[in-house]
Amino acid sequence: MENHVEEFLNTLGDAERAGGRVLHELTGQASSLELRELLKKVAHDEGYYAGELAHHVRRLGGNASNKTGDFVEKVRAVGDFRGKLELLNRGQRWVIRKINENLPNVSDPELKAFLVVMAQGHELNIGALEQALRDGAS
Ligand SMILES: [Fe+2]
Repeated sequence: MENHVEEFLNTLGDAERAGGRVLHELTGQASSLELRELLKKVAHDEGYYAGELAHHVRRLGGNASNKTGDFVEKVRAVGDFRGKLELLNRGQRWVIRKINENLPNVSDPELKAFLVVMAQGHELNIGALEQALRDGAS
């Protein structure tokens, strides 16, 4: 597979593993049961995306990364819970931006479809978390 596409997919995979780890940590810190459920669901999505990204890299003949991005440390460094959630959503927006930037370089139709749906899934999860924050979830 083309190097830049492999690198892009592995970078996204590292970010999704970091997102999953962060969400798992935040799930334990949420006091509202509904927010806890939402974070658990988003963590599950992040794990799913990481797994699918690795699957596509291997399917296309590349080497799948299993690293975890440094985003985990960045979120740990934020003092308050709400700030952590806001940083998480900024990270999720970065993922959408990266997908949109790189989509024109992706020629494989299955990978393209997966990435489009992954970006949409991120939009939904960002929206759900923003709504929870507006509703005062903690
Ligand atoms: Fe993500």
